[in-house]
Amino acid sequence: MRSYRRWNVASRVASLLISCVLLQLGLVSSQTTWKTLSGKAPTVVAKGGFSGLFPDSSQGAYSFALSVSSPSTVLQCDVRLTKDGLGICLPDIKMDNCTDVANFFPNSSSTYLVNGVPVSGYFPIDYISTDLGNVSLIQGIYTRTDRFDRSFAILPVEAVAQLKPPALWLNIEHDMFYTQHNLSMKSYMKGLVKNVKINYISSPEIGFLTSISSLTSTQTKLIFKFLDPTSAEPTTNLTYSSLLSNLTYIKTFASGILVPKTYIWPVSADNYLMDYTTIVTDAHKAGLEIYAGKLANDNFFSYNYSYDPLAEYLSYIDNGVFSVDGFLSEFPITPSEAIGCFVNLNKSSISHEKPLVISHNGASGDYPDCTDLAYKYAVTGGADIIDCPVQVTKDGVLICMSSINLVDDTTVVKSVYATRMNVIPQLQSGPGVFTFNLTWDEIKKLKPVISQPLSQFKTVRNPRYTNAGNYMNLSDFLAFAKNKDLAGVLITVENAPFIAQNLGISMVDSVLAVLNASGYGSATSLPVMIQSSNSSVLLAFKQKAPHYKLLYTINEEVSDAAVPAVADIKRFADAVAVEKQSIYPETHHLITTQTKLVKNLKSQGLSVYVYVLMNEFLSQAYDYFSDATVEINSFAQDAGVDGLITDFPATARRYKQNTCQNMGNSTPSYMMPVQPGGLLQAISPTAQPPAAQPLPVLSESDVAEPPLPAGTTSGAQNGPASSHASPQLPAAVLISVLLAILSNVLLLV
Ligand SMILES: *[C@@H]1O[C@H](CO)[C@@H](O)[C@H](O)[C@H]1NC(C)=O
Ligand SMILES: *[C@@H]1O[C@H](CO)[C@@H](O)[C@H](O)[C@H]1NC(C)=O
Ligand SMILES: *[C@@H]1O[C@H](CO)[C@@H](O)[C@H](O)[C@H]1NC(C)=O
Ligand SMILES: *[C@@H]1O[C@H](CO)[C@@H](O)[C@H](O)[C@H]1NC(C)=O
Ligand SMILES: *[C@@H]1O[C@H](CO)[C@@H](O)[C@H](O)[C@H]1NC(C)=O
Ligand SMILES: *[C@@H]1O[C@H](CO)[C@@H](O)[C@H](O)[C@H]1NC(C)=O
Ligand SMILES: *[C@@H]1O[C@H](CO)[C@@H](O)[C@H](O)[C@H]1NC(C)=O
Ligand SMILES: *[C@@H]1O[C@H](CO)[C@@H](O)[C@H](O)[C@H]1NC(C)=O
Ligand SMILES: *[C@@H]1O[C@H](CO)[C@@H](O)[C@H](O)[C@H]1NC(C)=O
Ligand SMILES: *[C@@H]1O[C@H](CO)[C@@H](O)[C@H](O)[C@H]1NC(C)=O
Ligand SMILES: *[C@@H]1O[C@H](CO)[C@@H](O)[C@H](O)[C@H]1NC(C)=O
Ligand SMILES: *[C@@H]1O[C@H](CO)[C@@H](O)[C@H](O)[C@H]1NC(C)=O
Repeated sequence: MRSYRRWNVASRVASLLISCVLLQLGLVSSQTTWKTLSGKAPTVVAKGGFSGLFPDSSQGAYSFALSVSSPSTVLQCDVRLTKDGLGICLPDIKMDNCTDVANFFPNSSSTYLVNGVPVSGYFPIDYISTDLGNVSLIQGIYTRTDRFDRSFAILPVEAVAQLKPPALWLNIEHDMFYTQHNLSMKSYMKGLVKNVKINYISSPEIGFLTSISSLTSTQTKLIFKFLDPTSAEPTTNLTYSSLLSNLTYIKTFASGILVPKTYIWPVSADNYLMDYTTIVTDAHKAGLEIYAGKLANDNFFSYNYSYDPLAEYLSYIDNGVFSVDGFLSEFPITPSEAIGCFVNLNKSSISHEKPLVISHNGASGDYPDCTDLAYKYAVTGGADIIDCPVQVTKDGVLICMSSINLVDDTTVVKSVYATRMNVIPQLQSGPGVFTFNLTWDEIKKLKPVISQPLSQFKTVRNPRYTNAGNYMNLSDFLAFAKNKDLAGVLITVENAPFIAQNLGISMVDSVLAVLNASGYGSATSLPVMIQSSNSSVLLAFKQKAPHYKLLYTINEEVSDAAVPAVADIKRFADAVAVEKQSIYPETHHLITTQTKLVKNLKSQGLSVYVYVLMNEFLSQAYDYFSDATVEINSFAQDAGVDGLITDFPATARRYKQNTCQNMGNSTPSYMMPVQPGGLLQAISPTAQPPAAQPLPVLSESDVAEPPLPAGTTSGAQNGPASSHASPQLPAAVLISVLLAILSNVLLLV
């Protein structure tokens, strides 16, 4: 049995309401002077709608783009013709990758010459429009969710216009191909312009653009679309790269150009940004607008952006030299944030307000864990607190190292010290070379290895720096931190019972001694916070150094903490570090709900820090649109956490500087936290993922531990990190809008 979903027309009320609110915002951002051709803010163009989440060109994609993106968002449609000359929106000339057509017409693909090249597949020109009535759209990119597949029908261009977007952009390609098949794009357009207001028409074909200029009103912008620089433009047979040197010629038939983003910021073979080209200023000199295309949050990233899509958009509009006039984006929320809330930030203002930005092994997203480079970048990136996970060497030196097993974060297996591999079951089941098996001098000879938490998805971090940087011992680290503008340092102590029993070293006494010797005991020194997942360690610190703040790590995913467990934690900790999924549990990368954990801990006066935030979209729920800033915003605004423990402190710091804070009901839709569970509810019953296993509740017995083997030093007095008022929490409306849209879906069988 097959079932098909289709959209009802009335679905715009909710988003219109939001748009009205947001008009005020347009006024705010117009105060900025932009280096665009018009001097106005750049335009967000939703390529096939919000095609990063919903199937490209679907009603879901278009409606959602209008709801969550900037209120002036333009809807873009790639127009294709059916056998009977109907214009439909489809991302590709073929239907293979974007529809389920093969299910309806098995074994009926065709082979045609497309720009002289034979191409096989399912072409819309082989079907009259009614043939396609049951065919539905699917997500063509495999890293994106397929749970909205088969929920949406193919749309005629008019249906997109009926959504009443602020502006409509049609992209038209392969005019010659349609002509060869006795179809005429030009006649189609002639009919269309009578009924539909088209604001932009783009095409990579000069002949087509010049042929329709007589049809269109002066309000329609004709945009010449540059393709791959080495390919030939069909009308002139000149390569796109040679046409680039004749922009005054382009200006004779177009008012703007659309270029793949690498025309503006080229990348090297190993995917690092090179210097920007002069194309934006050249285009503006020629009187042409310029739009950057091929922008998506989940692919084709240069390493320079640290997997932060907002940083990429900003490089096109907030670089001090030029600004593009718009973006074609598959995730239009992100350019909306960039344009609306993140340009001209005052980067020098550091005020250490909540949520605190706490590094995780330094800026380990960009440089190898706990190296001097990782710490320097954490500080320049604006971390409030930098962290040192303390380990001990064979000669008793305390060092900063993300793992007690050097195999995890150094090149030790390739070194002469590989022979020190041994199995220590109390620490881990497999073999390792442990920090206490090498002296500090020996460890310094090892090369660091950058962390790769998402390597199973072939996602690597900053490859030019894979083995860069030097390690620091704890005193180096404390000396480095001392004169920096920080809210404090975080010292993480794990495996203390093992080290006491087997090496006879008290980690508590040793850490306190180094802190004291480094001048961290006094009231004026930088605040110190000690972190452990073992309550007995924190209790020992509390006894000996009551002035240090204590951070308890709940190192498992939990849905809540029982009342006695919270009471127990309160005895020894000031703050609690919890996993992301303990706040927003997920199933199959979809948030299911929001737990009460943060609320319960905070109601007992405990601060709550979330760990570990990463920029890579594969670490994030689909609910965040592959945009680390959306995730951070939810943890800050909706969950109300007091700290963000992150591999990418610069992204979290920039979030704290955004200009759309404390706006209450006028907060733009793209800066609203996501509604926990909203996206999951929007998925049709047949496409739902299996329900998540319920998470355990943290019990008192999870928290209580036998006392740590004794040690005998005591710390000096010190001013702890101060606490601040919690931020205001605007209502989560982002996904409620989506739900309002989806409630209009009818089920047709
Ligand atoms: C569908 O897209 C994938 C990835 O872009 C590509 O490898 C594949 O060849 C495409 N299939 C068809 C039938 O075009
Ligand atoms: C399609 O082709 C495959 C083999 O190429 C064959 O097994 C199948 O029966 C065909 N289906 C139809 C509907 O013709
Ligand atoms: C669409 O599906 C329905 C129900 O299966 C069927 O009756 C109808 O003929 C189909 N239409 C087309 C154009 O295939
Ligand atoms: C196009 O039309 C001409 C004249 O009507 C006809 O001879 C030709 O076969 C048609 N071509 C195609 C691809 O339908
Ligand atoms: C286009 O140019 C290429 C070389 O630049 C040439 O080989 C080809 O024949 C030309 N095609 C046409 C249709 O003029
Ligand atoms: C620009 O293109 C026009 C039209 O093809 C041509 O006449 C002119 O010579 C070109 N100018 C340059 C500098 O290439
Ligand atoms: C990109 O990163 C590389 C490596 O760190 C650096 O050499 C290059 O200058 C950066 N490019 C830009 C445009 O900042
Ligand atoms: C940026 O912030 C700093 C510190 O708060 C302040 O002194 C400076 O005036 C600000 N600069 C601008 C341009 O607002
Ligand atoms: C590593 O250190 C532990 C604890 O000191 C010791 O028992 C073990 O023999 C050492 N292993 C090697 C290979 O040095
Ligand atoms: C820490 O390392 C520095 C050099 O990096 C060295 O001068 C210092 O003696 C070391 N401290 C200890 C306790 O080994
Ligand atoms: C915590 O420390 C105590 C010693 O104080 C030890 O007995 C216990 O096993 C430790 N717990 C964990 C989970 O390592
Ligand atoms: C810290 O240093 C002071 C003197 O600088 C000393 O009096 C105190 O005992 C030291 N405390 C510890 C725990 O070493």
